[in-house]
Amino acid sequence: MADLKPETVAALAKHRLIPVVSLPDAELAEPLGDALVAAGLPCVEITFRTPAAEKAIRILSRRVDLFVAAGTVLHRDQAQRAIDAGARCLLSPGTDPTLIQWCLANHVDIIPGVATPTDILLAMRLGLSTLKFFPAETMGGPSALRAIAGPFPGLRFIPTGGITSDNLGDYLALPNVLACGGSWMVTQQLLEQRDFDGIRQRVTAALSLM
Ligand code: 3PG
Repeated sequence: MADLKPETVAALAKHRLIPVVSLPDAELAEPLGDALVAAGLPCVEITFRTPAAEKAIRILSRRVDLFVAAGTVLHRDQAQRAIDAGARCLLSPGTDPTLIQWCLANHVDIIPGVATPTDILLAMRLGLSTLKFFPAETMGGPSALRAIAGPFPGLRFIPTGGITSDNLGDYLALPNVLACGGSWMVTQQLLEQRDFDGIRQRVTAALSLM
């Protein structure tokens, strides 16, 4: 089965936690990178939910001390822009065969979102074994992932959507969870207030739970 590049799997398995960030302004990218590195979590997913995404990915990807993924990738155009900007892997909220086949043909690491066994089968048929489980809490949370492990023993998941400090440990304890993603560590409010110390503290608090 085609899978992610070993270095991508190694980074996700090492960090186990991916701050999901929608940056309102690319000027926030550098201080955000500094805060994540200072907290000890040199890993980030920048979503294509704001016009600043591409530039922010380019700024952060220049750093050798950060693993940068692009999130909310919906179209091939965004995938191309993310890769050109230096993103190491792409995450998408759903399983789009056209997007996935383009990524596979171009040796681009893609982690598509799945919410049901039917989505999982589709992603498997396309050759993938590392999938985003989204929206995790809404779709049944850790108990859904436990149930999914029965028919799909070889798969690894990155649950995202509704994960916070309160339930992070429940997800990370599951053998089929490679890493978790979430926006609670880098909130819009903290970004708008340029509160990078607050971001660092939230990331440090999350890491203390692992
Ligand atoms: C994502 O894009 O992966 C999610 O929107 C993050 O979900 P959260 O905001 O509930 O953490």
